[in-house]
Order: sequence, then C-alpha cells, then structure tokens
Amino acid sequence: MELREKNRVLDWNNMRKIGILTRDCAGINAAIRSVVRTAYFYGIEVLGILKGYEGLIEGELIPLDRRSVSGIINLGGTILKTSRSTRFLTQEGQREAVETMKDNGIEGLIVIGGNGSLRGAHEFAVKHIIPVIAVPATIDNDINGVDAAIGADTAINVALDAVDKIRDTAMSLERIFVVEVMGRDCGYIALTVALAGGCEEVLLPEREFDINRICDEISEGNAKGKVSWIIIVAEGRAKAPNIAKKITEITGLETREVVLGHIQRGGRATASDRILAARYGNFAVELLKEGESDKCVALRNNKLISIPLGEAIKPKDIEVENYYKLIKILT
Ligand code: F6P
Repeated sequence: MELREKNRVLDWNNMRKIGILTRDCAGINAAIRSVVRTAYFYGIEVLGILKGYEGLIEGELIPLDRRSVSGIINLGGTILKTSRSTRFLTQEGQREAVETMKDNGIEGLIVIGGNGSLRGAHEFAVKHIIPVIAVPATIDNDINGVDAAIGADTAINVALDAVDKIRDTAMSLERIFVVEVMGRDCGYIALTVALAGGCEEVLLPEREFDINRICDEISEGNAKGKVSWIIIVAEGRAKAPNIAKKITEITGLETREVVLGHIQRGGRATASDRILAARYGNFAVELLKEGESDKCVALRNNKLISIPLGEAIKPKDIEVENYYKLIKILT
C-alpha cells in the first residue's frame, strides 16, 4: 500500500490498467506473478484474461491483485488457463477483443507464449494500435532473436531426466531405445537433450535422415562390441514406434520406443526458468509503462532487451548442423 501511494505521488505511470493472457508451459505462473507484482509496484491494475485470446474475445476476465499470485511461483501450467483460438485469427474476433479492452478500461496487453501467441500479438498491436508487449514462453525455444524462452530449460531437464533413466535399462539389458520428444516444427529439445544425454543419434524436423545409414552404424558398432544406443526423435520428424520397428527389422537387435509427450511441458519450473520469468515479466510491465508497443522482451548475452515483434516471429536458426556435428563427434 505504501509503495502504491508513493508511486502515485511520483506519478511513474500513466497506464492505469493492463491485461495479461498466456499459453501454457513451466514457468508461466512465475511470469504472471512477476507481471502482477511489478504492476502493483507502479500502481497499475491487472486483469487476468482467461483461456488466452478466446477469453479476450469473450470478456472472461479476473482481477489479479498481489495476493492472488501468492504461492504460484512453483506451479506448472497457467493459473489463467489457455486455449487455441481460431476466432482471434479473424477480423471479427479481433474487433470483439478490442471491444472487451475498451469496455473494461484495459489500456495495454501482455501476451505470454510461443510463436502462435506472438503472431497474434503482433497483428493485434499493428492493426488495432493497441499497446502490446510479448513475453517468449515456449518449450521449443524457437523465438527469433531471443536466447531463452520460458519453459525450454524445464522441458529439456524433464526429457534429460527420462533419458538418463532409460539409459540405465538400455545398458543393463543391452538394448536400443528410440525416445520421442516434443517439437513439431523445431528440433531444439531433441538436439539439446541428445547432446546433454550423450545420445548416439537424433532425428530432427530440420534435417533429413537415412535409416539405412543409422542401421549400418548400429550394426558396425555392435560388431565391435557396442551394446546399447539411445536415439532421440523429435515428434515432427518421425514416430518412435515406426523407427524402433525399422531398426529391429534391419539390424535384428532388440529396440524399444518411449514417447515422452506432454510431461515435458508441465511441472515445476527450473530455477533458470523462474529467474527468466521474473525478469521478463518485470521488464514487460516497464516497457508498457514507458509507452512501448509491438515489442517482445528478450534475453541476449544475458542482457534484457526488447526487440520488434515482427522480428521475433521470423524463423529462428537453432544451429542444427553445429549441434548435430558435435553430437556425432562425442558419441
Ligand atoms: O510449441 C510447443 C509444443 O509443445 C511443441 O513442442 C509441440 O509439437 C506442440 O506444442 C504440441 O501442441 P499440442 O499440445 O497442442 O498438441
């Protein structure tokens, strides 16, 4: 209360009320907390928008005060819930979203999410001249110009923990395992987990693969005494059961598949993701307060910067060939 009064006297902010909507991944609740408490610090009210853009269209809003974000810093998912909104892709849907903002006195918007959310944020900011700041949060870490998106570190660590456990069985039973990780369009999780997990091979959406070449390598290794392999597959490249079946057919070696799925997106965020969420959420409010719009907060060389949203939604180069080469050298 004291701070709020003090800040009113200093008149730090012109913006009185902002809205916040999110996608889901680990660390998003920590970002919501940071936005709400930073806004409170500056005497700005926050309305939580339920179910993403769909809630903005429908006017599904809840007030978020500093107490309402107590005890959420360690929770996975998003307390605001989320959805994919096809209506927000239409002019009519966006017009209704603008109406919700006007009717509720929302002067600026913070959008926390991945590529789809950021594309929506960019279009909304540009077409309707609405102050919008985006916060990158996606396990795929594929936001251009941004070193780290919230949720990616947690997802990699969840997948890595699983791979380490699978290796125990792979070694003990002398088996091949094909482990499918998330990443429909982006192989970031697959690449980083393959490197961190010391895996022998990785199949990626960005890279063609030759199953015969992989099986030749396995057979040659097996002839020299190698007895276990872990092959990581990004879901957007191939399905683990199909790859496992092929390997058994070609090499005659016992091969099992594991599909990790959505356990990679939920759960307790790592310290690194929570710290990122605290920094990004705070910076997003400050940018809105300073009158910025159509920007994305970003970490580059461990410095917080803002970049144009139009740049953030371009394809990101995740250095596939460099990582892949290193994985193959180290196996
Ligand atoms: O973009 C994040 C992501 O988790 C991808 O890695 C994955 O391919 C996709 O979302 C899955 O989306 P959904 O949960 O809608 O199936």
